[in-house]
Amino acid sequence: MDWGKRHFPGADVTHTWSGEDYQATNLMPFFGKLPRGGGKIYFATGYNKWGMSNSIAASLAISAEILGGQLPWADTLHHRKTSPAGAAAAISLNADVAKTLADSWAKLRTAKPDTNNTVPDEGSGTILRHDRKPVAVSTVNGKTCRLSAVCTHLGGIVSWNDAEKTWDCPLHGSRFAADGQVLQGPTTKDLPAAQ
Ligand code: FES
Repeated sequence: MDWGKRHFPGADVTHTWSGEDYQATNLMPFFGKLPRGGGKIYFATGYNKWGMSNSIAASLAISAEILGGQLPWADTLHHRKTSPAGAAAAISLNADVAKTLADSWAKLRTAKPDTNNTVPDEGSGTILRHDRKPVAVSTVNGKTCRLSAVCTHLGGIVSWNDAEKTWDCPLHGSRFAADGQVLQGPTTKDLPAAQ
């Protein structure tokens, strides 16, 4: 914003966007045959915000592999082994995920009780407590929704993203619309209404 004001004085912000992206622990994209895919399913992932170029590289390499061609640079990416540093980074990430899960459930003890009539300000959301269950309450476009705040993937507690007006899970990145619909996996199930 500061950069914009400096270089384009007088300009107004009319639109914004944001993005989420996957990255491997060693920051390199990778692609090849999907494990347990019977040799018939290929995957490509971990573009790390470089999807415009890395997706092309992945499709060239995958088609070369299927058609029997050879792209020497592709071997670096999809035949690599996990390095000790990469394995350590993965273990540390998993430890962070476990800690975030434990912390967010512990924080619930201090969340405000859900009185059934909380109406957050337009565009905002909050986590409340009903007995021991976390409840996600938000108001978007004048509609207030009360949902279970427990992520339908592996039980993380979602948090409100006021830029996107979504409920996001800090554990593995699942995202839900304000009415609970899945926007992005790994989960495949919507957030149910609060009980
Ligand atoms: S527990 Fe929410 S994305 Fe995995």
